[in-house]
Amino acid sequence: MSALILCGKTVSKNVKNNLKSEIAILKAKGIVPSLAVVLVGDNPASHVYVRNKQKAAEELGIYSVTMQYDASMSQDVLNRLIDELNADEHFHGILVQLPLPKHLNENEVIQRISPDKDVDGFHPVSVGKLVLGQDTFVSCTPAGVMEILKFYNIDPSGKNVVIIGRSNIVGKPMLNLLYQKATYANATVTICHTRTKDIAAHTKQADIVIVAAGRPHTLTADMVKEGVVVIDVGINRIEDPTTEKGYSLVGDADYEGLLSKVSAITPVPGGVGPMTIAMLMKNTVISAGRILSK
Ligand code: GUN
Repeated sequence: MSALILCGKTVSKNVKNNLKSEIAILKAKGIVPSLAVVLVGDNPASHVYVRNKQKAAEELGIYSVTMQYDASMSQDVLNRLIDELNADEHFHGILVQLPLPKHLNENEVIQRISPDKDVDGFHPVSVGKLVLGQDTFVSCTPAGVMEILKFYNIDPSGKNVVIIGRSNIVGKPMLNLLYQKATYANATVTICHTRTKDIAAHTKQADIVIVAAGRPHTLTADMVKEGVVVIDVGINRIEDPTTEKGYSLVGDADYEGLLSKVSAITPVPGGVGPMTIAMLMKNTVISAGRILSK
């Protein structure tokens, strides 16, 4: 079977192109969509993510400010900063890059951000609305997976979907999107995790497998049926002396091994990865647009 490669670069470009006209309309009405990104400490991966977010915002004409703080920043100072950003009408979205240094309480930070500016979709109010099927900001990576499915006309309705991974950022919102009574949803969803006894017994029944486990080779060809759709959310660095950098990026699925068995699969890199930032831009534009309906 020749597999359809689900290209996140193409889908993210499409999302961003659609945003351009919405941004132009907002600007004509005097509204410049604006995002505040807070980065605490010197986690190298976080610095890369934040740089990419800044670049994407600049390309689209979204005003984005990255506020960088030393790893020693106190919870009090961070809380006060969030309070100021909540009250600052210039900003429509606030994103505090995770993970935070260990002494800072991530839950406290997430809950302090106003749900009206929660473009990450992490606030309990956003999560609760998602569960209830109400309009809300949706966590960007799962929202990006839904865009990929729609773009390639892969309708999960009536299908068995297995998600591997139960994180707050991917697994849980992914589950809550897919079972909803809504277009491109209505799936029967199973969530597998580190305590699942026999993950393969579940994935073998799946029409679509979404793997977000944070571990290379979590999903292999012997674990799926012929014609399955595989969405790989993982990005792992593995040592690779054949490359200049000494490492290469792989997903959570054994891409090469699965290729001859799947009907469609996302590559890593270039699959789900580019979608996260595109959806963050989309959430920021949606937040700015809400001012008009207030
Ligand atoms: N760290 C890794 N991914 C994300 C994300 O989507 N949002 C935030 N705030 N931090 C992250």
